[in-house]
Amino acid sequence: MNNVILEVAEQIATVTINRPKSLNALNTETLTELNACFTELEKRKDVRVVILTGAGAKSFVAGADISEMVNATPAEGRAMSLLALETFNKLENMPQVTIAAVNGYALGGGCEICMSCDIRVAAENAVFGQPECGLGIIPGFGGTQRLARLIGKGRAKELIFTCDKIDAQEAYRVGLVNKVVPAEELMDACRKMAAKILSKGSYAVSMAKSVINAGMDMDLTNGLKMEADAFGFTFSTHDKKEGMTAFLEKRSADLTDF
Ligand code: CAA
Repeated sequence: MNNVILEVAEQIATVTINRPKSLNALNTETLTELNACFTELEKRKDVRVVILTGAGAKSFVAGADISEMVNATPAEGRAMSLLALETFNKLENMPQVTIAAVNGYALGGGCEICMSCDIRVAAENAVFGQPECGLGIIPGFGGTQRLARLIGKGRAKELIFTCDKIDAQEAYRVGLVNKVVPAEELMDACRKMAAKILSKGSYAVSMAKSVINAGMDMDLTNGLKMEADAFGFTFSTHDKKEGMTAFLEKRSADLTDF
């Protein structure tokens, strides 16, 4: 892969988008590589948490690649959007927990890819925004849908219509990011959070993720019914027996399901 680096250590995969000269802008080649990378990761049993970040100190992802889009036809624009949507859906729904380590600009497609992760941790220098309307287009990698779901319709409309950029603290205030940390502590903070998640039942965490994601597209009654079914299903696992027995025996649990 030319533009994506995948490293795996201690059940944590780090995926780095690596086009620092273009501030890690997403062109078709990079989207295709990310798609292949997520397809591989979703099958890997040795990976339980995925951290997604951008190369260099300045930018997470500065958006879709404007130099590729400038001469694109409507059909090509749509194809790029569909490739990104397929790729980001894969990221959103993989069984592993995904954490975006936002190390700078997260604009347009950059904001959209980090919104497809389960959790966002931002460096203090991170900047978020959806500048598409200033380019005569609309967000096309999920921004009109995921931003409204994350921060509410009113705030999402304001950000998309004004193209305002917001800093990490404001992103935290509106609920776009989970946590803000000094830039030099970003990767450590993500690994620390990953380690905490890894100490829990990975199968249960994955099941909870899947139920939360599916529930967002359902009415409450059906979402709660799905939760009850999934809750019952977890009673069939090794981890449920071990977790509860360990609690009653006052020892730490050895949770191994995934
Ligand atoms: N596409 C292609 N190239 C990009 C890019 C992008 N989205 N963002 C930055 N670059 C390139 C610049 O063209 C420049 O290249 P050269 O050195 O060859 O000139 C290089 O990266 C460095 O960028 P700047 O010189 O502009 O750096 P800066 O520090 O002055 O500004 C910035 C940083 C504010 C992020 C600015 O680069 C910028 O505004 N970038 C575009 C952001 C944007 O509009 N993103 C949305 C794209 S559309 C989209 O994403 C659609 C969608 O929904 C998927």
